[in-house]
Amino acid sequence: MSQKNLFSGAQPTGHMTLGNYIGALSNWHKLQAEYNCLFCIVDLHALTSGISRDTLIENTLNSFALFIACGLDHNKHTIFAQSAVSAHAELTWILQTISSMGELQRMTQFKDKSQRYAGQINLGLFTYPTLMAADILLYQTNCVPVGDDQKQHLELTRDIAERFNKKYNNIFTVPEPYINQHASRIMSLQDPTKKMSKSDLNQYSCINVLDSEKTILKKIKKAVTDSDSLVKHDTTRPGITNLINIYSALTAKNIGSIENEYMNQGYGKFKADLAEIIICKFKPIHEEYNKLIQDKETLLQLMQKGAAKANE
Ligand code: AQP
Repeated sequence: MSQKNLFSGAQPTGHMTLGNYIGALSNWHKLQAEYNCLFCIVDLHALTSGISRDTLIENTLNSFALFIACGLDHNKHTIFAQSAVSAHAELTWILQTISSMGELQRMTQFKDKSQRYAGQINLGLFTYPTLMAADILLYQTNCVPVGDDQKQHLELTRDIAERFNKKYNNIFTVPEPYINQHASRIMSLQDPTKKMSKSDLNQYSCINVLDSEKTILKKIKKAVTDSDSLVKHDTTRPGITNLINIYSALTAKNIGSIENEYMNQGYGKFKADLAEIIICKFKPIHEEYNKLIQDKETLLQLMQKGAAKANE
């Protein structure tokens, strides 16, 4: 039986974070066994952030190397940059002609981002979900791993696909969301009520997958916790709860057993152990990444191979 198609992507707007790793990369790694995967570095989406040309090119190549260093298999699956397949932009135009202003105005991500970038909202931020719909529909995608923040965009993609199929021809597969029950949203280390984001200007808010051991330790030590020193998972204590979630995601230990392990031990020991867990998890990725990034020519060839496969 042929495998179902799965599409997912990440924006090369900065260095991939621990949030990207837990919420996307490590999950994609597992899904490779079950699906025919397309992993896309969505550089056209990143343009909406106003990123410079050189940074975008550099981040795209670095993200590609990191995907492979995290174990994504470029031989079996398709790993590519969005801009290398012009059909993404072409289909976006067609999908825009069957999307309404009203439905795009309802997208909460647009509302959030237009507040954040008030005064410099580009049209791309508004039409972003139609590019995302094109990304997904081009590959007859059956399944899209989505976090909470992307559920609304996937719903819109499904509506657009059904509308297109009805109006023109029954061409597109209507994709289903893949919800990972165990995936938790990783929050900022400095403001645990906000998502950990690679574009956050506060460098202590996030851990980058490629941070040095010393930096990881420092960032975890500085992570905001609560006034007492109880290692307890509790929504009223978002700082320690976020750290426990990270611990649990990286070790597959359940929350209760982590709380028991650190009962009466205080934050010092817990934070030191957590930093060590992150460092150990990222060490083999660093080694692989450092090898790959030294040979840019081979990386570019692999990117071209991915683009050719996606273009097909
Ligand atoms: N903090 C997070 N916790 C869990 N999952 C996360 N993802 C991102 N941040 C977290 C997941 O990573 C995938 C790729 O995301 P993206 O880079 O395309 O965009 P994003 O979600 O907007 O990530 P950032 O880091 O917040 O980017 P910027 O700062 O550029 O806006 C997605 O599957 C996402 O859910």
